[in-house]
Amino acid sequence: MRCIAEPAEASRVAEPPTLAAPRPLRGFRPPDVPGIASIVSEALHEHYDPSLYGSLSAEWPSGFLVATDERDAPVGFLLGVNQVPAEGRVLMFAVERGWRGTGVGHALMDAFLERCRLRQFRRVTLEVRVSNVGAIRFYTRYNYSVIDLLRSYYSDGENGYHMARDL
Ligand SMILES: CC(C)(COP(=O)(O)OP(=O)(O)OC[C@H]1O[C@@H](n2cnc3c(N)ncnc32)[C@H](O)[C@@H]1OP(=O)(O)O)[C@@H](O)C(=O)NCCC(=O)NCCS
Repeated sequence: MRCIAEPAEASRVAEPPTLAAPRPLRGFRPPDVPGIASIVSEALHEHYDPSLYGSLSAEWPSGFLVATDERDAPVGFLLGVNQVPAEGRVLMFAVERGWRGTGVGHALMDAFLERCRLRQFRRVTLEVRVSNVGAIRFYTRYNYSVIDLLRSYYSDGENGYHMARDL
């Protein structure tokens, strides 16, 4: 499973939407799958078996955060996993294009880090395409730093950065 993202330039909307009220966050629910799959397809260019989301959620339900619109439909999500003791990993993280730049990503990351702290994790890791400068800047502002270069990490041959931050 790889955190795959489009190049940053294409990921930014030309005109950010008007300032939005903070979005409520909640846990993943099975009816979210079509909405989340649509975000994954557009933002991460991936198509996973729909059952994947439920099975990953079952392992650590609190690590799967969903931001919703006024109709409770997903507008962004962060799927975190705990595969290494005392360590969280951001497996998938994306916000619907029209909602980017309105604070949804920050809300999701803040909440995820808080949940990692509650579980007394010592570190959070993630992978990102080297071309995804927007996401890398976002992560750098969250004190993630590059700990490794992952050569040909992505299926199209692009290198990835392994990033981590302490808690
Ligand atoms: C990376 C990503 C998840 C960030 O989500 P986001 O909702 O756009 O993030 P935010 O809106 O919280 O913050 C983005 C920027 O908008 C700014 N911003 C936050 N709230 C804002 C507001 N209310 N008004 C205007 N700007 C705002 C932030 O300062 C931030 O600026 P920065 O990038 O210079 O730090 C999103 O861009 C995305 O889905 N990208 C495509 C998929 C991807 O690359 N995922 C990561 C894979 S590793």
